[in-house]
Amino acid sequence: SSTAASFTTAMSLTKMAKVPERFVLPPSHRPLIYNHLHNYHSTTSPLPVIDLVPIHDPSLRSRVIEDICNACKEFGFFQVINHGVSPSLMKDVVQACLEFFNLPIEEKLHLVSEDVNKPVRYGTSLNHVKDTIHFWRDFLKHYSNPLSKWIHSWPSNPPSYKEKMGDYAKATHLLHIELLEAIFESLGLDPKYMRREIEDGSQVMAVNCYPACPEPEKALGMPPHSDYGCITILLQTCEGLEVKLDKEDKWVPVPMIEGALLVHLGDHMEILSNGVYKSVVHRVVVNAETERLSIASLHSLALEKYIGPAAELVNEQNPKAYKESSFKDFLDHISENDIMQQRFIDTLK
Ligand code: SIN
Ligand code: FE2
Repeated sequence: SSTAASFTTAMSLTKMAKVPERFVLPPSHRPLIYNHLHNYHSTTSPLPVIDLVPIHDPSLRSRVIEDICNACKEFGFFQVINHGVSPSLMKDVVQACLEFFNLPIEEKLHLVSEDVNKPVRYGTSLNHVKDTIHFWRDFLKHYSNPLSKWIHSWPSNPPSYKEKMGDYAKATHLLHIELLEAIFESLGLDPKYMRREIEDGSQVMAVNCYPACPEPEKALGMPPHSDYGCITILLQTCEGLEVKLDKEDKWVPVPMIEGALLVHLGDHMEILSNGVYKSVVHRVVVNAETERLSIASLHSLALEKYIGPAAELVNEQNPKAYKESSFKDFLDHISENDIMQQRFIDTLK
């Protein structure tokens, strides 16, 4: 098909001396490349790190909820440590993903599609057919909840993929329920708010591979965007993610903390909170030295279920600030719009 014919992975370009013209950003959109790797330490970063151990202790829980509240208000982003997802599982799932990306291209082409509604999709950039500017990224995306419905459609090569990713998807789904309970509590809502819809919610795994890039100062791995869902749980193998600080017009690198997971608030959480919390705008910079892998687990309600501001958070002083929307609405939005031009959330205000 024309889709496969025009398909060139970022991975296949990694040894070039320069990036091809389609990757070159207008100067105003280019990142600042510090010597990225190893330069940012959690001790000097303003971004919050939350230890989840005390959340299970009734006498300490309220302190953690307060920290989560502050992190969500100020950044819409935090890292978690002692989150219950085992380090060996994290290592194994990364390994299985790297093996997938390193398969010969012929083994992956049948998964290439420009249709964002496909439940399993391998691709490059954001949408290699539509993008006017390309991003230095290859990806594999698939639906993951309920696992028994989707796991059979996942890549059967490498042979360990389904097992490792299946275990990881289960673990992140559990963690996401725990995090949402805490976030709802921090908003003054019942921790079990929408519990049933959340258990049956959508989970999309987006595995991103950013090969070493010959000219990292001219390109991006991902353009600035916010995620559509309630929360995203992200695993990264090295630095590269940057978050935009709301108040200042400033990009802040997310430090690499071994074993930590990153949590992004998405547009659906901004809507649910009626704007008390904001979804975090983030982008990915690439580097000349190392390949970077990230696994984003994106969580929202089921495809066609609408999410709106919680009734408890709407009152005379805080009128309803957003329209209801669904995951399906987001897919329709990105099918028709350029992510560089308009954010999904801006269409719902
Ligand atoms: C994403 O924004 O979904 C990717 C983030 C990352 O690769 O760190
Ligand atoms: Fe994202």
